[in-house]
Amino acid sequence: MRKIQIFDTTLRDGEQSPGCSMNIHEKLELARQLERLGVDVIEAGFPIASPEDFESVKIIAQEVRSCRIAGLCRAVKGDIDCAWQALQGHPDPLLHVFLATSDIHLEAKLHKTREEVLAQVKEMVAYARALCPNVEFSAEDASRSDRDYLVQVFEAAQEAGAGVLNIPDTVGYAAPAEMEELVRYVKAHLKNPDKVVLSVHCHNDLGMAVANSLAGMQGGAGQIECTVNGIGERAGNAALEEIVMAIRTRSQLYGCQTGVQTRQIYRTSKLLSTITGVSVPPNKAIVGDNAFAHESGIHQHGVMNNRLTYEILPPESVGIYQNRMVLGKHSGRHAFEERLDQLGYRLPEAVLEKSFEKFKALADRKKIVTDRDLEALVSSSRYQIAETYTLESFVINSGTVISATAVVKLLKDGESKEHVARGEGPIDAAFKAIDRIVKQSFPLKNYAIQSVTEGEDALGEVVVKILRGDEIITGRGLSTDIIEASIRAYLNAINKAVMQS
Ligand code: KIV
Ligand code: ZN
Repeated sequence: MRKIQIFDTTLRDGEQSPGCSMNIHEKLELARQLERLGVDVIEAGFPIASPEDFESVKIIAQEVRSCRIAGLCRAVKGDIDCAWQALQGHPDPLLHVFLATSDIHLEAKLHKTREEVLAQVKEMVAYARALCPNVEFSAEDASRSDRDYLVQVFEAAQEAGAGVLNIPDTVGYAAPAEMEELVRYVKAHLKNPDKVVLSVHCHNDLGMAVANSLAGMQGGAGQIECTVNGIGERAGNAALEEIVMAIRTRSQLYGCQTGVQTRQIYRTSKLLSTITGVSVPPNKAIVGDNAFAHESGIHQHGVMNNRLTYEILPPESVGIYQNRMVLGKHSGRHAFEERLDQLGYRLPEAVLEKSFEKFKALADRKKIVTDRDLEALVSSSRYQIAETYTLESFVINSGTVISATAVVKLLKDGESKEHVARGEGPIDAAFKAIDRIVKQSFPLKNYAIQSVTEGEDALGEVVVKILRGDEIITGRGLSTDIIEASIRAYLNAINKAVMQS
């Protein structure tokens, strides 16, 4: 079986998608989970893009040691120096240098001739290689580039020291047969194709990113670049979970394998949507809520007789366990920890403690606590930050014949502060009362609510996004009461905003 390298770019290309920005702590948390997932390369960011990007690549390079860590750079010295500085101290760093090769990019964006671009690639790849043993060169918009020119640039990059040559379908224009052909063509025309790894990086503008990546692999690519949940610029990148599970489920067809720990897939997907507040569509392959749900009677009957009738891969293989959970208010710490352990969580003591406290409170309100409830509790405890304002109590009055009023009491430095406000509805009124206590107002950019599980006593999870200047700050709240979940989410975001200011 050919081993395919999985190059994860969730923290770089993925983070560029609207609504998916993450702060440094969130990036580190996700990078740690990607390490557990077993990806080969984590592209941690684009260090020259901003001081925050630089810091997050730096901290990930310091903390995450068992994957190769990549930093993106344009083919210019300043970018390469900056990325190299951010990667310092990592045992297996990678400088990822890119420059466009299509005529449209050369003319309309770079204002350079083909000769100038070729010279720049030679010089900058050699510059990067003199600093770092691992250099990848990406020919941006490769799929729309003149093939012979593309090969000429790749040849130069390889000669200058690049060990990986990446063929991006930057605008998601290619079709699978073309992608496979393109990789074969590059491989057939390089002087030393066996001394370099060919890579593919496909965008999803026509919904073919995964198919194109797999086709590129069939054409000879040894590395696939992808993102968790397929997040990324515009319509996104190729989805990691779909690629990995296609390779595994159809291993006879592809003759390939990856080093990904597939049981970590669902948790990684969940962690990303919890961090970004961008939920996964229910019909999303592999990780969507309905990916393993059988609704029609005929299907249910078939699955009961033999799962293979309608199920091509077991949900457990991606870490989705059916609700075998029986934790309730009488369950103790031991049972709680054991269940988390079975679900694959290895949590620091402080997070475990916080999660257990929340579990006890939840078990008092809910008959049974499901695995999904536990996942939500753990994520909310992980993102617990030092609270400037703590919710003490609230009272809401609302109805069709009165305007909604909220009385909110918060605790700050041991002192109780209370305010009343009227609003368009109970949540608006509560948020306004909080604004009055905090004496600041952060525009609300987004509000989303979803139930974690089914049933009347389901846990509601609210994600709010507020604006502090240009920066989007995400807050989360969890409760069986949706107004409480909303208040907690808003307060969580406010606490982050005031802590950072
Ligand atoms: O889509 C693209 O071309 C890229 C490159 C920087 C690899 O993201
Ligand atoms: Zn890209």
